[in-house]
Amino acid sequence: MSSLLAGKTGLVFGVANDRSYATHIAAALVEHGATCAFGHLPGDKNERRTSKAVEKLGISDPWLCECDAADDDSIDKAFDKYASDFERLDFVIHSIAFADREWLRPGMFNKTPRQAYLSAIDISAYTLSAFAQRAKPLMEKTSDAKPDPGGSILGMSYYGSEKVVSGYNVMGVAKAALECTSRYLAAELGESGIRVNTISGGPLRTLAASAVGGIDAMLDETPKHAPLRRNVEGSDVGGTAAFLVSDLSAGITGENIYVDCGINIIGAGV
Ligand SMILES: NC(=O)c1ccc[n+]([C@@H]2O[C@H](COP(=O)([O-])OP(=O)(O)OC[C@H]3O[C@@H](n4cnc5c(N)ncnc54)[C@H](O)[C@@H]3O)[C@@H](O)[C@H]2O)c1
Repeated sequence: MSSLLAGKTGLVFGVANDRSYATHIAAALVEHGATCAFGHLPGDKNERRTSKAVEKLGISDPWLCECDAADDDSIDKAFDKYASDFERLDFVIHSIAFADREWLRPGMFNKTPRQAYLSAIDISAYTLSAFAQRAKPLMEKTSDAKPDPGGSILGMSYYGSEKVVSGYNVMGVAKAALECTSRYLAAELGESGIRVNTISGGPLRTLAASAVGGIDAMLDETPKHAPLRRNVEGSDVGGTAAFLVSDLSAGITGENIYVDCGINIIGAGV
């Protein structure tokens, strides 16, 4: 275990099971010495799932709190509970997204109803801002152990924000909004020492990914064309998240960093 993140404490949203990107991120943060607290969707079943995945990382008796990111009161309660139990907030991992899978099939984007479009952007993009609003006063707090204000907020994006990826549809629109939200937050929160970045992860077989029609083709094609000749692994994203939470990345904010074995640099038809 390294001490890169020793003393840093924060909130991780998005652990649904042991395949979630958030679980790989938490594993890397814990490996480098951070303390992680976890938000999960309301309901006993969701709590049990998150708890099980987190305990496999060696975190016994994890701090867990329900949080439905679609509901402002629920977000308030989660951050209030965190603030009453922890002295400091150094990082927030936003690894959540939602879109009705009905509209995540090739050829369906042009039929997306208003409510499906709005809820995808609400839960997958606006919530980064909602989390940042609650995180700001906690990250600004100083103490003997933390003499300078600041923190690191991290969201998870995908290449479908920039280019049309068959089946990614309204989620691509939401990821474009997420990356842009991250830049505007970075510009305004930088004076408090708060950095905001996104990681654009390659395809990984998770619950959320299974809703995207076309994930199998992505996983088949990536190793054929990506510079590194393989699919991304959760630990690749975990390592980059640890770097972005750490002081090694103190000068980086408002960036979207691709962790996808390089597939995004390859042109169509290659
Ligand atoms: N898996 C991939 O191929 C891939 C690639 C790039 C980016 N991403 C992104 O990574 C992030 C994590 O997804 P994942 O692939 O690990 O899948 P996942 O299903 O394991 O995680 C998605 C999480 O979002 C949470 N969530 C959904 N609605 C919520 C709400 N209203 N309130 C609180 N939490 C809510 C779920 O509980 C779950 O924990 C997402 O932003 C996703 O778009 C995934």
